[in-house]
Amino acid sequence: MMDSEELRAEIQRVIWYHTIPLPGGITTPGVDNTPSRLPKMRLPDVLSGRTVLDIGAWDGFFSFEAERRGADRVLATDSYCWNGDGWGTKAGFDLARRALNSTVEDQEIDVLDLSPQTVGVFDVVFFFGVLYHMKHPMLALERVFSVTGDYLIMSTFVDATSSRRPMMAFYPDAEANNDPTNWWGPNPPAVVAMLRAAGFSRVEIVDPPVPFWDRFERGLRRLRRGGSPLPELWQSAIVCHAWR
Ligand SMILES: C[S@@+](CC[C@H](N)C(=O)[O-])C[C@H]1O[C@@H](n2cnc3c(N)ncnc32)[C@H](O)[C@@H]1O
Repeated sequence: MMDSEELRAEIQRVIWYHTIPLPGGITTPGVDNTPSRLPKMRLPDVLSGRTVLDIGAWDGFFSFEAERRGADRVLATDSYCWNGDGWGTKAGFDLARRALNSTVEDQEIDVLDLSPQTVGVFDVVFFFGVLYHMKHPMLALERVFSVTGDYLIMSTFVDATSSRRPMMAFYPDAEANNDPTNWWGPNPPAVVAMLRAAGFSRVEIVDPPVPFWDRFERGLRRLRRGGSPLPELWQSAIVCHAWR
């Protein structure tokens, strides 16, 4: 086990995305308030007897949470951030795993390379915050389906939420959140239809887009800061569960 002083010093050397509670009352200083997102995912309270794959794990908050809930085996995968091309590195995952004395496994692999041959098949698959970064989202969902044994829990950014027809907004540049790695903003009916088209038999949205009037308020705040209120009006995030 690492002592607290050593851990605090090592934490300072990492650029963190996730906020991860570690032993000794220490929390990683992530830019993302990850614990606040956890209830929206509706993870099973108990994962004992289950294997879990966390795709796009980054610093590993959700992988460590699956282990904490008793999963028999957890594999964390990522590529963009872990291979140095992305916003962060794998240093946070490695340090948190050491600090937690965790046995979560890791594999650097692109979503499009996932298959039963490359990673195996897992009872429960997490796919959080990755879909809209994929240039080929339908292909990505087919790869994710191929490694899902029982069910998938997925969160994604959504756009065009005013329409009930399945559709996606395309961001050829940095139109979504000023981030050039965002390619597509599907609307909730498109997310459901795409998961069905990928092979899932049943899909449920467990966390819907924030209500229109909350988005309207956010848009007004953006307008007061001199920005365009329009993206805020139609964009949000959802969480789905999808069964094989
Ligand atoms: C917005 S972060 C989400 C991190 C974490 N899943 C969460 O919800 O907090 C997107 C993650 O997807 C990863 N990612 C993006 N494109 C990927 C790809 N083609 N293959 C594997 N991982 C990818 C990034 O490296 C990053 O860790």
